[in-house]
Amino acid sequence: MDSRIWQHPIIDFGERKGREIYFNFNGKPIKAYEGETIAAALYASGVRVFGRSIRFQRPRGWFCAIGKCSSCLMKVDGIPNVRTCITLVKDGMNVEYQDPRPNLPEKTEFECEHVKVETDIAVIGGGPAGLSAILSLNELGVDSLIIDENPWLGGQLIKQTHKFFGSKASYAGIRGIKIAEILLGELRKENVKSLENSSVIACYREGKGFKITAVKGHSTLYEIDAKGLLVATGAMENMLAFPNNDLPGVCGAGGVQTLMNVYGVKPGENALMVGAGNVGLIVAYQLAQAGVNVKMIVEAAPKIGGYLVHAAKVRRMGIPILTRHSIKAAIGKDHVEGAVITKLDENWNPIEGTEFEVEVDLICLAVGLTPSTEILMQIGCEHAYVPELGGHVAIHDKFLKTTLDNVYLAGDVSGIEEASTAMMEGKIAAATAAIDMGVNVEKAENLRKKSLHELELLRSSPFSKRVITGKEKVYSLMEEISCG
Ligand SMILES: Cc1cc2nc3c(=O)[nH]c(=O)nc-3n(C[C@H](O)[C@H](O)[C@H](O)COP(=O)(O)OP(=O)(O)OC[C@H]3O[C@@H](n4cnc5c(N)ncnc54)[C@H](O)[C@@H]3O)c2cc1C
Ligand code: FES
Repeated sequence: MDSRIWQHPIIDFGERKGREIYFNFNGKPIKAYEGETIAAALYASGVRVFGRSIRFQRPRGWFCAIGKCSSCLMKVDGIPNVRTCITLVKDGMNVEYQDPRPNLPEKTEFECEHVKVETDIAVIGGGPAGLSAILSLNELGVDSLIIDENPWLGGQLIKQTHKFFGSKASYAGIRGIKIAEILLGELRKENVKSLENSSVIACYREGKGFKITAVKGHSTLYEIDAKGLLVATGAMENMLAFPNNDLPGVCGAGGVQTLMNVYGVKPGENALMVGAGNVGLIVAYQLAQAGVNVKMIVEAAPKIGGYLVHAAKVRRMGIPILTRHSIKAAIGKDHVEGAVITKLDENWNPIEGTEFEVEVDLICLAVGLTPSTEILMQIGCEHAYVPELGGHVAIHDKFLKTTLDNVYLAGDVSGIEEASTAMMEGKIAAATAAIDMGVNVEKAENLRKKSLHELELLRSSPFSKRVITGKEKVYSLMEEISCG
């Protein structure tokens, strides 16, 4: 079996894929292409079970495809707990299923390069927020470094084949993948310092600055000393509670988009999309573009949550959108074989007798995101639960300062929104950091003023009402804390 996509209306996968290589999976050779992750290559070869649960040994597949959920852990070259969805495959590599309760690695000593780095501002996360921030810091003359754990910089942009809305300053009318290319082009041109495929695993305050530990695979350990931090770690996809929700084939919609649009692997034959917000609508359309039969989109709310222009495109492709419907259970033994759908009453309860089954091998969940705020929590920023922003967020002001000196945030980690607003927040946070450091203050103030204005324009649509309410809550909490 080979479910790689070669013909696509927007992406030339032939050009994207590197050299053909082979690696071993449980002793058997598997074909892959350089530039693919282990998980993408295994999925393309028909592997669906990536591990087993600890207690009941239930099969587990991948879910997020960006390193955030740990459902794809395997043993790679003797090392357990490797996130196969963000680890690039290498010729001759040995990949195995691991015991759900793995022993410590057979090897007790690793050859590991220890690299010390010093910088004024460390930007953690290379999505639209982090990229805009580092480019602005660079322009303002602040010594800075960007760190990202995925193999490619660009965050969620690198999988978004659709054209963006927004303003000219936020690249309206341009496809997400092209926006990533533009930002990365500037980064390379400016020779900005970056650490790719490197996870920040710890961050501590030390004196007036910060000590950051990052690891690149199992070969390099970075010890980074920074005077300030700008956290732009994005978000993770939400799970939904229903029987069998852990079956391989129940995936995050963004994860499916990564597999399909970054690695060119067809995620299934027949799909169900749960959620008709923008993510659900866009990914359903892109699944159909990749040749997947999307049987339907179910949406628990009485109305479609996403832009109607996206809904119209989906409907034109013949995909029905059922509002006031949800998934009741997934069906299958080792992998999804179907789903039970139910109608909901006005109190969101299933209406008995309305259930019906759909035959699908893929269930995509597009039911919201939660800010990835672990690093900000670890260093001690005060947090608040703000449902309008997607969950717990670090309390901050409109200049993206947190409750700790010299710690800033931007993008989805500050509240779930869009790439366009994430880019503006990245610029504002960078300008604030420069102002606080006393570097190029006048230029930074101008950039901040302009970006705050752009952000206000972006948030002027009725879709932003919820976010504005959430942001007002955190700003007033910040004010209370600042006033003691
Ligand atoms: C399917 C889908 C469609 C979308 N469509 C649109 C659209 O049309 N228009 C729009 O404006 N927005 C859209 N969005 C939203 C947009 O993608 C996000 O709002 C945006 O990417 C947020 O940017 P960010 O930089 O905050 O986070 P991300 O893009 O998620 O980037 C965060 C980065 O941080 C890195 N990271 C996280 N933790 C660590 C760590 N510990 N160490 C190192 N690196 C780390 C990650 O690897 C990642 O690269 C869409 C989102 C999805 C899922
Ligand atoms: S961490 Fe690999 S699928 Fe989520």
